Amino acid sequence: MPAHFSEWRLRPAGDGDFEAMWQLDQICFSEEIRYSREELRDVLDMAGCRSWVLEVFSAAGRLPGEIAGYVTARAGKRCGHLMTLDVAPDWRRQGAGGVLLRRAEDYAAGRGLRKMLLEVGVDNHPARAFYQRAGYRELRLLSDYYAPGVHGMLMEKMLENSFPAIVQEQPAR
Ligand SMILES: CC(C)(COP(=O)(O)OP(=O)(O)OC[C@H]1O[C@@H](n2cnc3c(N)ncnc32)[C@H](O)[C@@H]1OP(=O)(O)O)[C@@H](O)C(=O)NCCC(=O)NCCS
Repeated sequence: MPAHFSEWRLRPAGDGDFEAMWQLDQICFSEEIRYSREELRDVLDMAGCRSWVLEVFSAAGRLPGEIAGYVTARAGKRCGHLMTLDVAPDWRRQGAGGVLLRRAEDYAAGRGLRKMLLEVGVDNHPARAFYQRAGYRELRLLSDYYAPGVHGMLMEKMLENSFPAIVQEQPAR
């Protein structure tokens, strides 16, 4: 966590967050995987999609445009789908990813869905470890999912035993 930030707060994303979300996506993913502005806009506008941001605060108050991370999830007819989950490098390994993931899972569970699906880059070992720790299991390799030669891994979690979100008010230190 950067020294001048002291806290995050989870809230639904609004139109004013789009640029920060897109910029974060550019930092988090390689060229083959990251979204163009148009692609991200299309994802956010999909039916059943909801997004949340972790807004960051300093002792002086809210820092406009600063987010520690965001998540976008879609409630489909049969399952929830994690569309994207990004945590800024300075904020990793402090629980932010877990807070965002739980919010997405609660959204799907709240819509009566019992299963969450996601795709992750097969070479993205940190994210695969993160999802496994959160209870996801690897279903199958998705050949050329992102681009020729850039494979994905399909992962799944059953939500029936999920608990309501515990919103972590402070980053773990
Ligand atoms: C994957 C990602 C979302 C994790 O976010 P995070 O805020 O660091 O995750 P958390 O702090 O909640 O981690 C929870 C647990 O997941 C596991 N984990 C997280 N990052 C890990 C890593 N780099 N290596 C191994 N395990 C990891 C650990 O078990 C961790 O618990 P611990 O810190 O007590 O050991 C973040 O690294 C990220 O945004 N990466 C770039 C974008 C991305 O790959 N998104 C997901 C693909 S769709």
